[in-house]
Formats: sequence, structure tokens, C-alpha cells
Amino acid sequence: MKTKLMEIVLTCKAVEPLTFQADLLAVGVFSDSRLPIVEKLNARLDKVLDKLQQQGDFEAAPAATALIYSTGRISAFRILFVGLGKKSDCDQNTVRKAVSMAAKTAVDLKAKTAGLLFPMVLPRLEKAQVAQVLSEGAFFGAYRYDEYLEKKDTKRPDKIHFTTIFEDIQTLKECQNAFQRGIIIGAAQNTTRTLANRPPNVINPRMLAAEAKRLCASIPALSCRILDVKQLTAKKMGGILSVGQGSATPPALIVLHYRPTRRAASDVFGLVGKAITFDSGGISLKPGEGLHDMKFDKSGGMAVLGTLLAAAQLKVPLELYGLIPTAENMPSGSSYRPGDIITTYSGKTVEIQNTDAEGRLLLADAITYAQQLGCKTIVDVATLTGACVVAIGKKRAGLMTNDSDLAEQIKKAAEFSGERVWPLPCDDEFVEEMKSKVASLKNIGSKWGAACAAGAFLSQFAQGVRWAHLDIAGPGVWGADEKDPAGSVGFGVRLLTYWLMLISQQKQ
Ligand code: BES
Ligand code: ZN
Ligand code: ZN
Repeated sequence: MKTKLMEIVLTCKAVEPLTFQADLLAVGVFSDSRLPIVEKLNARLDKVLDKLQQQGDFEAAPAATALIYSTGRISAFRILFVGLGKKSDCDQNTVRKAVSMAAKTAVDLKAKTAGLLFPMVLPRLEKAQVAQVLSEGAFFGAYRYDEYLEKKDTKRPDKIHFTTIFEDIQTLKECQNAFQRGIIIGAAQNTTRTLANRPPNVINPRMLAAEAKRLCASIPALSCRILDVKQLTAKKMGGILSVGQGSATPPALIVLHYRPTRRAASDVFGLVGKAITFDSGGISLKPGEGLHDMKFDKSGGMAVLGTLLAAAQLKVPLELYGLIPTAENMPSGSSYRPGDIITTYSGKTVEIQNTDAEGRLLLADAITYAQQLGCKTIVDVATLTGACVVAIGKKRAGLMTNDSDLAEQIKKAAEFSGERVWPLPCDDEFVEEMKSKVASLKNIGSKWGAACAAGAFLSQFAQGVRWAHLDIAGPGVWGADEKDPAGSVGFGVRLLTYWLMLISQQKQ
């Protein structure tokens, strides 16, 4: 039995916090200073905050929490103090994380209503930025993937309503747009998380294509076309076709197109995301341990889908394509084999030496297609190599590119989004390794620097355009911190959306 995920509603209001009725009131607290409203709350609650801090029970370290019951002293039933650390250090990532903890706790407590009382004036941020990350954090922390849990076990409400409390109507007015932006981004990121979290028996390439169509149908400026096996064959997209040929469910290329009504630039931008709904490794079968995690091998594609949903709703003034090649990598009598030589859409041939290095083959075709559609800047996102996780750990994306300006833009967006990226090389040293004696390229290099070799392989299909590659193998599978909701974190949605917002501002 499948149940609907909990609905998350977030609104804002200018009200007196002490008389605000809710199951929970979450209050942001600095470790080194106090806002007047927090002081007032402390006084009303018989100096409980002083006591908590003196005892060392709650020192207001970033994202630390203390829960108390108001026992009628204020209108909210419970109060959750949430640490923000030192005021001078408090940035967008501190606020987002703290609000996320507040929202997560509210859901853990099965609250139906929760107030969020956080400082809007910070030395390192504009008010609007605070409002945006506040919304993002609430959506992030309130999310649970529980479609297949039984209701009698979760006992959760169908809906949670958060209210961001503004102390004055003026600030609320100044922040309203940014507040809504955060809601759009947070909700799109949660859509990405749900699709990534869904099991591979439920989401296969066909179901994924149907889901993409359904999601785009409600947004007029966003279209969704599906290239099926017949069309892929006619176009000779040998990369996508080969990877998908071993599965009972045929592969597809999902083509999203967003046409803005107002444009800041004539350039067309392409986002390409790997969507392997399950990566068994194929004939080069993976070992069994942790194999179930390979349902997350669609995370890059889902990040691209989420980003296009967000960008279209935000009315980002740029023309965008989102290309999502999707397949299931399975061993069978019809699978592609090590030793096969395939012809990609670009015309370049590839000697298959390992069927588990499948992502780059699908991406190669989609990157070529993006250029044919007129994209001059292309960013691909993929859970591409285990080697990337070995190199830089579980939380960061490897960033490889042929353009240093593009690298700087992406780093800047990552700083604001809190989704960290780290540069890796993918130059001639690695391109050399990918040359084959019997084809233009082979699909694996040596075991040294395998993330870089994969990037170098992709670079060969992006010659003549600005291109960047994000290897999200780590954060795609293991992105959630200990205290985050379990499963996909939707890595890349905020990052790519901010990147688009950033370049649209630069182009204006
Ligand atoms: N989907 C995997 C990479 C992966 C590993 C993603 C762990 C997330 C977590 C990819 O298709 C793969 O299998 N890559 C191989 C490449 C190798 C054969 C060159 C790998 O990393 O072992
Ligand atoms: Zn894979
Ligand atoms: Zn693989």
C-alpha cells in the first residue's frame, strides 16, 4: 500500500510570538547575544533560557536544540530553542540548517502547526536572503520519505503547517518575494528527493518518463518530450541504447525545454543528468554489498528535473534544456558486453571494457544532443564514479570543467547553496588514458584517478562549448547527515538553480 507523502505548507505572518497558537514554536538563539523578543520570551518563561545556558544543556551551538513545554505561559504548546552560534558567524548555511532542525523536530513530534521565529537581520546576509533560506530549510527538514510505511506505524498527520513569524509588517513585505522563492526551491528539491528515493521496481525508465511528463504538464512554459527507442534508434544514439538494451524496460531520453517570456540573454543553457534507475553493473556485475543503493544512480537526472521545475516557476529569464537520459543497467541475454564497440550519437566509437562504466555513455549522447539543440553552455550532473567518493568523501561533488569562468560561477553558487563542490582535473593526462586501440575511445582508464578519467571521457563530447561536470556519487547516495531526514538530499537542485539565478543577474 502506498500512502501520500505529508503535505508541507509554509506561510508567513506578522504576529505577536507570545500569543501565537501552535503545537510548537521554534526560536532561533545566538550564543553570544539575544534579540529583544528572545529576552521577552525568556522572561515570560521564568528565565528558562538562562538556566539552560548556565547548566550547559543548551549553549546555542549551530543547530543544537532544547525542547521545553510552555505549560500555558505562552500560547504555543511547546518551545524549541534552536542554536545559531555566534551572531557574527551566522550565514545562510547556519540559518538553513537550524531551520531544518526545527522543522525536522516539529515533524518528529507529529506537530500539525509550528511557528518559526528566527532573526531576519544578520550582519552577513540581506533580509531577503535570510527569508529564502528559511523557507528552504523548513521544506528540507520537514521532508520524510514514507510512501511505503504503514500509517499505523508512522502515526503522522497528513499535513504540517509552518508559519514564519515576522515581528513587523514592513519586514514581511520586504521579504515576501524571497520567502516564496525559497518555497519553490525547497519544494522542487523535495520532488527530486522523492523521485530519487523511490525504489527501482516502481521507477524504471518508462515510469520516470511518465512522471517527468506529469510534473511538467502543470507548468505552461515547461515542455517535456520523450525520445523512445524508436526515435533513439533513428537518431543513432548508440550510447543510451547500448546501456539500456539488457533491461526488460527500454531506455529513453527525456527532453525538458523551458522558454521564458522574458530573456536576459540569447544563449541557451543545457543541463544534463544521468538517470540510471538501477545500476547492477550489467555483465560486469557489481558485488552484492550495498547494491540496493544503486537506486540512487538516477540522482543526477532527478536534480536536473527539479532544477527545471524550480527555474520555470521562478521565471528565470534564460532559455534552458534539461536532458535526462534514462536506462536500467542490467545483465541479461540482450545486454551489451565488455568487448563491444558502440557508436555514439557524436559518431565517435567506444570500446566497452566494463559495462559498469555506463553513465558516461548515456551522458555522451545527451551532451551531443544538447549542442545540437543550440546549447553553448552545458553542465552535467551524475553519480558517475565510486572513485570520486574515495577522493573527496561523501559530501562533496567533484567539479571538472573546460572553462575557468564557469568553474568560478559554480563555486559561487555552491557557497550560497551549502552544497559543496571540489575541483578535480580532467585534462590531457586523463584524455590520453581513455584512448582505445580499436575505437575512438574506451570506457574505462586505469584505477588511478578514475573520477578524472570519467570526466576526461565526457570532455571529448563537449569540445567547442563551455562545459562542466559534477560527479555527485558521494552526495547523491550519502548526502544526508546523521540528523537529516534519511535518504536523498536532492543534491544539486539548489546549486544549479542558484547558478542560473546568478548568471541571469550577470547577463541583465
Ligand atoms: N553508478 C556508479 C558509480 C557510483 C558508485 C555511484 C558509488 C554512487 C556510489 C557507476 O556507474 C560505476 O559503476 N562506476 C564505476 C566505474 C568503473 C567501472 C570505471 C565505479 O566507480 O566503480
Ligand atoms: Zn552508474
Ligand atoms: Zn555503473
